[in-house]
Amino acid sequence: MEKMLHAAPVHATLPECFIFPADKLPQAKATSGAVSLPIIDLSLCRDEVRRAILDAGKEIGFFQACGEPRRVPGGDAGHGGGVPGVLRAPGGGQGRALLRGRGKTTRIYSSTMFDTGAEKYWRDCLRLACSFPDVGDSPSGWPDKPQRLREVVERFTVQTRGLGMEVLRLLCEGLGLRPDYLEGDISGGDVVLHVNHYPPCPDPTATLGLPPHCDRNLLTLLLPSMVRGLEVAYQGDWIKVDPVPGAFVVNFGCQLEVVTNGVLKSIEHRVMTNLGVARTTVATFIMPTTDCLIGPAAEFLSDDNPPAYRTMTFGEFKRIYSVVKLGSSLNLTTNLKDVQKEL
Ligand code: OGA
Ligand code: NI
Repeated sequence: MEKMLHAAPVHATLPECFIFPADKLPQAKATSGAVSLPIIDLSLCRDEVRRAILDAGKEIGFFQACGEPRRVPGGDAGHGGGVPGVLRAPGGGQGRALLRGRGKTTRIYSSTMFDTGAEKYWRDCLRLACSFPDVGDSPSGWPDKPQRLREVVERFTVQTRGLGMEVLRLLCEGLGLRPDYLEGDISGGDVVLHVNHYPPCPDPTATLGLPPHCDRNLLTLLLPSMVRGLEVAYQGDWIKVDPVPGAFVVNFGCQLEVVTNGVLKSIEHRVMTNLGVARTTVATFIMPTTDCLIGPAAEFLSDDNPPAYRTMTFGEFKRIYSVVKLGSSLNLTTNLKDVQKEL
């Protein structure tokens, strides 16, 4: 196993391999301070929530969701809104020997998810993945060790995915798509969880926790830490996200940009580290199935609006997009366009 950052009690200095050239680390403008993302209370009336999600989505591509959504007649069984109380960082400090999952879907790794071929990122990550829905009496695909991990992760993902599906339904309604347009294969792939851990960093000005990136999936729900660190690209600058207790940070993945032919944007974000405190977040990724063919929906196309994105399977998209050529530019959506051009 790679050396995990959190295994060392203290890091006195930043190892060279984590140091980025200054031009790859544009700092957020001193004036920008912390900007709260739009906070949307899902318990408000459906029309209001739908409008707020669409407005926030078009303006920033990110929002924070709290409150329990109202149920629609004939909709899914109820699920909690906001952040479920069940999740505590699973298995913290217990080491890999105790983590038992099936196959490659469960991994603990450090620093390398976005391979620059050079510098490393100041992050440890526990990745868990499981097909969904995971029904029947057979044990689910989540690891059965450490004790209680499976139970906690199952409850957490059912609630979190339920909330994500509700957001997707609201988006469909607001965009004039069939309410179930984003159900089925496009959201029916494995549910992937990343438990991101960013230990205190001896030199936060010289490295990053995560590089600027757009999420490749359909929709991401982030259980943020109360410690700041997430920054979102906005109008040529980075804004620091000020976390709200009990709320998820929700953002659109590349596939939502493709389906809507760019009406919704998948926005670049990155993670800064800090000197003093460790930060742990949990990202839940709603993913398409690997074979799912994804392209702009007919509803967004006309003579004046030709397809801006190619149609390809999610598997193909991931294969191409696994090469990150981001530098640390603030290039909003060009990544996605580049990926598409390469075909
Ligand atoms: C991610 C991500 C942000 C954070 O896991 O894709 O953007 O604050 N995480 O950990
Ligand atoms: Ni992300």
